[in-house]
Amino acid sequence: MKNITIKNATIPAIGLGTFQLENELAREITAAAISAGYRHIDTAQAYKNESGVGSAIKDAGIDRDEIFLTTKVFRERLSKKDFMPSVEDSLRELKTDYVDLLLIHWPNRNVPVAEYMDQLMEAQQKGYTKHIGVSNHPTALLDEVLATGADIITNQVEYHPLINQTKLYTYLREHGISLTAYSPIAQGKVLGNPVLKEIGEKYGKNEVQVSLRWLVQQDGVMAIPRTSKTERLKDNLNIFDFELSTEDTAQIDQLKKDNQRVVNPSFAPDWDQVV
Ligand SMILES: NC(=O)c1ccc[n+]([C@@H]2O[C@H](COP(=O)([O-])OP(=O)(O)OC[C@H]3O[C@@H](n4cnc5c(N)ncnc54)[C@H](OP(=O)(O)O)[C@@H]3O)[C@@H](O)[C@H]2O)c1
Repeated sequence: MKNITIKNATIPAIGLGTFQLENELAREITAAAISAGYRHIDTAQAYKNESGVGSAIKDAGIDRDEIFLTTKVFRERLSKKDFMPSVEDSLRELKTDYVDLLLIHWPNRNVPVAEYMDQLMEAQQKGYTKHIGVSNHPTALLDEVLATGADIITNQVEYHPLINQTKLYTYLREHGISLTAYSPIAQGKVLGNPVLKEIGEKYGKNEVQVSLRWLVQQDGVMAIPRTSKTERLKDNLNIFDFELSTEDTAQIDQLKKDNQRVVNPSFAPDWDQVV
């Protein structure tokens, strides 16, 4: 497993995503993932599975500090009144004293950036989280986040070969912030892509593995694929024994031209324009 180092954090480049895994399945998959070698787990208040994830970590028989655990504050709980109680609820559900990374899940037009960033920094001061970050923040909102003085380590956003995130990625690199790639296999849409398939055949890898490798080969990028199938957990980790060539990468870079976004709810912010 490759680790990425960002500021004072060391994070496994592949983590387990748990969106849409209901509580009991999240417990089973998290337990199987830890057995398979995963040490980075991503959950959220909105997924309603923090309890299952927390039970699996607690019962895994390894020290808590061996796991990098992320959760996210729900967009309906960002106000000063709701924020800290929501984090305390998360810690209770997760059965832990702290998370490694606490993220703002989505911005909310009704809550000023400075209000929720103040709360996020306070959660860190209280020891509820080791590191802080945001998710689904385009560059205009990141300017507001950084203006608060917050020392964020990541922006978790949709990223895979089929979407154009050049503007956001460049911004994050310029500011020394990592990019955590969610929906890293475009919720399955990379499967069957002829370019990814052909490149994979050279290395004995499938389209999912080529996509994940393309992501983690980029500076400051980690990825959190989700599966509900234990047999796929190993496949999604099995990407560290080959390297994409410059020619492969150039071909994959062309796929972003259609700019396919798979996660775009009605409450999404105005995304960055394609450059
Ligand atoms: N911050 C946010 O707003 C946000 C938004 C979306 C996601 N996320 C995070 O990112 C994680 C991943 O994103 P995602 O869940 O949207 O999608 P994803 O990881 O891109 O794709 C998941 C889909 O791919 C399939 N899959 C996984 N591994 C596979 C393999 N080896 N071969 C074939 N199919 C495979 C899964 O099916 P099976 O279950 O059948 O394997 C599932 O349908 C989430 O779970 C969540 O933790 C965050």
